[in-house]
Amino acid sequence: MVALTDEDKAMRDGRDGDAVAAAMDLLIRYADALGAEEFCDTRNVAGTNTQPSPAKARLVREGGWARAFSVLSLDSDTTVDVPRMKVPTCQLQHGFGDDALGIMPYPEENIRLQADAESFYSAKGVNILATCTPYQAGNVPAYGEHIAWMESSAVVYANSVLGARTNCEGGASTGSASLTGRIPCWGNHHTENRYGTHHIEATVPIDSFHEWGMLGYFTGDAVQEARPVITGSLHPAGLADLKHFGAAAATSGGVEMYHIPGRTPDAPTLQAAFGTTPPPPPLRYGPEERRAVHEQLNSLGTSTDVDFVLLGCPHASLDQIGRIAHLLEDRTLSPHTELWIMTPLALRTVADRNGWTATIERAGGRLLTDSCPAMSRTAPAGTRVFATDSAKQAHYLPAILGIEAWYGTTEECVDAALTGRWTGHLTPPADTP
Ligand code: F3S
Repeated sequence: MVALTDEDKAMRDGRDGDAVAAAMDLLIRYADALGAEEFCDTRNVAGTNTQPSPAKARLVREGGWARAFSVLSLDSDTTVDVPRMKVPTCQLQHGFGDDALGIMPYPEENIRLQADAESFYSAKGVNILATCTPYQAGNVPAYGEHIAWMESSAVVYANSVLGARTNCEGGASTGSASLTGRIPCWGNHHTENRYGTHHIEATVPIDSFHEWGMLGYFTGDAVQEARPVITGSLHPAGLADLKHFGAAAATSGGVEMYHIPGRTPDAPTLQAAFGTTPPPPPLRYGPEERRAVHEQLNSLGTSTDVDFVLLGCPHASLDQIGRIAHLLEDRTLSPHTELWIMTPLALRTVADRNGWTATIERAGGRLLTDSCPAMSRTAPAGTRVFATDSAKQAHYLPAILGIEAWYGTTEECVDAALTGRWTGHLTPPADTP
């Protein structure tokens, strides 16, 4: 049984109202099912309250957003009044918003439902960041901070790159954490569960966004839900590289935490990454493994006529948007190909001011916010073949929409958008540094 503080008991017993009592009751049941012995305090919750769905629409029709929150986030049959969130809470990615109107077969009723949800939840104190990368849009937890986040790519980034502590939470646990500031303390919250379990050694240079994505995809497949420690011929990785690596590892496997000795904050050295356990023999990622990953991610591509190019999964950073805009300067997309770049609204605002949005739009592309094709299950009408620089999107979108996929570099994808043809191929690995 999870240990309860006097404060936990008071919340459970209704001191702060029915919604908080239901939230605490849910968290106690959740903690007991997990075998957690205590709760952590948290002041940073990232969930998905506003994402439209048929179940949510039905519940809203029955009893408004209080009904939807009661059932889906508190597991309560009784509809309770929803108070203001107790601790800072943000909305992760959700469905497409107004910028989808007229450019994709996305239901208008979803857009209206989501706008309604945004009004309701923002009035309750939820920051509508609307991105899978809250750390790019103003929510950067401190090192060692206990947080309660959903979204696998955000969770692995928070644990590994920022050194914050979270498990991969769900809609109910984040909803309840928002109202109580408590989350079961287990798994990644405990230091002993954060040490490396597997050693992956790259023998080919990992020197670009594309290479980090392939290494991530290999790593997730190799270790599944374990904690890899990555060494070898690694060039310095930036935000976008680490974002792509983690998202890919959380896609082919269920990686929530990784270490790069000398780079990520819990691993100053290889030995530190493994705690007191000696590092195991490394699993090699060399030319053959690299080629196998590339072939796997391109296994569904047959036609080289590309209808649609998707960049920005996870949502693009400013650097990525600026680079894409530069590649599109004074160019025009193929009349048969759509280009979408996904980014948080906060970064889109900067891109607007920098002139990058105008450059992208002059070429015929679109800088979109809030969602992505995989999340909203939509692409430009008639898409049969798409290309992407994201291992995660290449993995999921063909299964979701029944379309062909090409995976390549950002430059190859932009070239496909300009020419309507896929000419990407795996170049030999550069010389090892
Ligand atoms: Fe984000 Fe969609 Fe990729 S939510 S991580 S852009 S699948």
